Amino acid sequence: MDYSIETAPIETLAHDCIIIGLYQNQHQNQQLIPSGAALSDKLQSLIAKVVSRGDISGKIGEAVLMNVIPDSEVERVLLVGLGENKPLSPKNYRKVLSTAILSLKKSYIKSIACGLAEIVVEGCNSQWNVRQIVEVFNDASYQFTALKSDKETESKLQKVAITILESEFASAQSGLIQGLGIAEGVSFAKALSDLPGNVCTPTYMAEQALELGKTHPELSVKILEEADMQALGMGSFLSVSRGSRQPAKLIALEYQGGKQDAKPIVLVGKGLTFDAGGISLKPGAGMDEMKYDMCGGAAVMGALLAAVKMQLPINVVGLIPSSENMPDGDANKPGDIVTSMAGITIEVLNTDAEGRLILCDTLTYAERYKPDVVIDLATLTGACLVALGKIPSGLLGNDDELCNALIKAGESACDSVWRLPLWEEYQEQLKSNFADLANIGGKDAGTITAACFLSHFAKNFRWAHLDIAGTAWRSGQNKGATGRPVPLLSQYLIDRAAS
Ligand code: BES
Ligand code: MN
Ligand code: ZN
Repeated sequence: MDYSIETAPIETLAHDCIIIGLYQNQHQNQQLIPSGAALSDKLQSLIAKVVSRGDISGKIGEAVLMNVIPDSEVERVLLVGLGENKPLSPKNYRKVLSTAILSLKKSYIKSIACGLAEIVVEGCNSQWNVRQIVEVFNDASYQFTALKSDKETESKLQKVAITILESEFASAQSGLIQGLGIAEGVSFAKALSDLPGNVCTPTYMAEQALELGKTHPELSVKILEEADMQALGMGSFLSVSRGSRQPAKLIALEYQGGKQDAKPIVLVGKGLTFDAGGISLKPGAGMDEMKYDMCGGAAVMGALLAAVKMQLPINVVGLIPSSENMPDGDANKPGDIVTSMAGITIEVLNTDAEGRLILCDTLTYAERYKPDVVIDLATLTGACLVALGKIPSGLLGNDDELCNALIKAGESACDSVWRLPLWEEYQEQLKSNFADLANIGGKDAGTITAACFLSHFAKNFRWAHLDIAGTAWRSGQNKGATGRPVPLLSQYLIDRAAS
């Protein structure tokens, strides 16, 4: 999709449709956003007629398409409700944007001029508004057709012109650059995550990373094979992969946008391309969704892609341990004891708690980058869904400043997180009779004990863990990857680049 920022009056832009916001309960002359109020009298009285008929009252969630505009340059007008005439909350602003784009989704409209960046949003500026337009429109137009014979998508939209006041042009332009970078990162993560496990194997993920490196010279990509991991002593990671015919890969992507000697931000993403549970086999219902157990890894690639597109002046490293978790004659068995790269021995009491087994060795490996901070993201525990549902990702960590920065980034990116405690009392639950650590902590506080396990391997740096089990994909009818937390990570990187 092609986006542009325009300062000319919306009516003069030759597009299939213009989008105008409409406030509720207002006199006719205060009802429309500025670019609506600047429309010709004829067009305004036509809009007034639609309103007086009761076709639209201006509530949030409402939209009416005026499909024919007699004797006018303007082909169509989409009226979108904005609620009361006062600054919108960021969440309501996003609702307005999705109402607008969804009501155009199944139409043949190819190009639009959108006036919605002019709306006043609480605590936000034109940069933020424009960025949200790009992110929300892009999200709504995404459709996974890679494996369908008919690749035609519902949305025919190709061009979006965003109108803005002359004085806001620079701010809008920088919002456009951010929006395009983040949207591309999100789309990349979604497209990779929606692929099934028989296509998206660890080898495929590694190939995609290498491909990213080829198209973006700013990225250097290195793949560690099982033999390399063996040499490093990654006994925990390799124990998960033993039950699979697909070789494991440890993918490393490096983006050097900052000074040579600036310590990198390291992002670690769980890239489990199919989680059957191993010998502690999962129940059959809904098991297909465990193809999404690599969403953390996909989001790391997406965030790096966004950083490259935004040309952020920082150094970022992405590490993705990628493996399958399958039942097999050579698979981990409950009770097996493995030795991690850190030398800590682990009793594998449940082979389905495999994410922490591949992450722990990757966290140890991250030490060699002398990281400024390490953030891992993983579809780690079903318990996170029980605790927090599908709204925020879970956040735990050993550094308040880092956690607070992530909370703030999540708020402004509309990709929220909620912090859970990582108190030492919970560590009791991970005691093993036979090894240094057990890989499960019983039925209570599953998200916290998973993070407690990881914390043993994150002692040498500032670290945060995001449990994205509830946020990385949608289940049911509308099943699909969300690309979260690429917006959150991108915002964090933007904030770090600015500080
Ligand atoms: N990938 C799953 C976590 C998961 C489950 C995410 C369902 C989203 C939806 C992870 O590997 C897993 O199986 N975790 C176990 C841990 C348990 C055995 C301690 C879980 O959550 O049941
Ligand atoms: Mn599992
Ligand atoms: Zn898993």
